Amino acid sequence: MEPGQLQIETFAGDAMRPHIPALAALRMRVFREFPYLYDGDEAYEATYLADFIAAPSAALVVAFDGDRPVGCSTCVRLAEEDDALRAPFAAAGIDVARVFYFGESVLLSEYRGRGVGVAFFAAREAHARAVSACDLAAFCAVRRPADHPLRPQNAASLEPLWRRRGFTPYPNLVCRISWKQVDTEAEVENTLSFWLKPLCGGALP
Ligand SMILES: CC(C)(COP(=O)(O)OP(=O)(O)OC[C@H]1O[C@@H](n2cnc3c(N)ncnc32)[C@H](O)[C@@H]1OP(=O)(O)O)[C@@H](O)C(=O)NCCC(=O)NCCS
Repeated sequence: MEPGQLQIETFAGDAMRPHIPALAALRMRVFREFPYLYDGDEAYEATYLADFIAAPSAALVVAFDGDRPVGCSTCVRLAEEDDALRAPFAAAGIDVARVFYFGESVLLSEYRGRGVGVAFFAAREAHARAVSACDLAAFCAVRRPADHPLRPQNAASLEPLWRRRGFTPYPNLVCRISWKQVDTEAEVENTLSFWLKPLCGGALP
């Protein structure tokens, strides 16, 4: 798939390995911005990404401008993810084995609005269908108050994009993850809420 001049490729298994430094760099750069405000840490990135590539069902989707990676997106079976992500589903009575978890999508700002985000969803859904029998896709997004002091005046909401991709918000299905922010001295706990989509045309839980 080629949105504009960009090439979108999906990598799994050992083929992900050469692209992990690009994923770490893009995460640290893009997640520094509102709403994540993540003050990235290379040691944390190395541990987190080593766990990620060890998961048998994991895939990494990369957007290339020529040879240069300008965006990345990840997915993995929820059953292979951390307890912090699995526990809310178990508590809500949703079988974790049904769920393919879509992790981050990070794209340099100058490449946005030309369909890469749409291509990231399509590639991850294709991977989920190819490697699993999961009938639900899920991702989570950080919640920030409308009057957050670091919210840019022209901040665009991704919610319309997610709804048009077929996802439904579950505001009460939340996880809590801590990270050091650009505006804090230490790690702070953030609340993220999930969005779900049926992968096989079935009903939502
Ligand atoms: C999330 C993110 C990757 C989305 O990237 P994006 O490339 O701007 O998104 P897209 O261009 O695919 O989608 C935006 C709109 O442009 C449309 N679009 C523009 N050009 C298009 C093209 N050539 N082909 C298809 N769609 C196109 C899309 O259809 C979509 O509109 P729609 O929702 O009405 O369908 C990007 O905004 C980002 O990195 N954000 C910061 C990090 C973040 O918050 N990530 C999400 C949580 S992990």
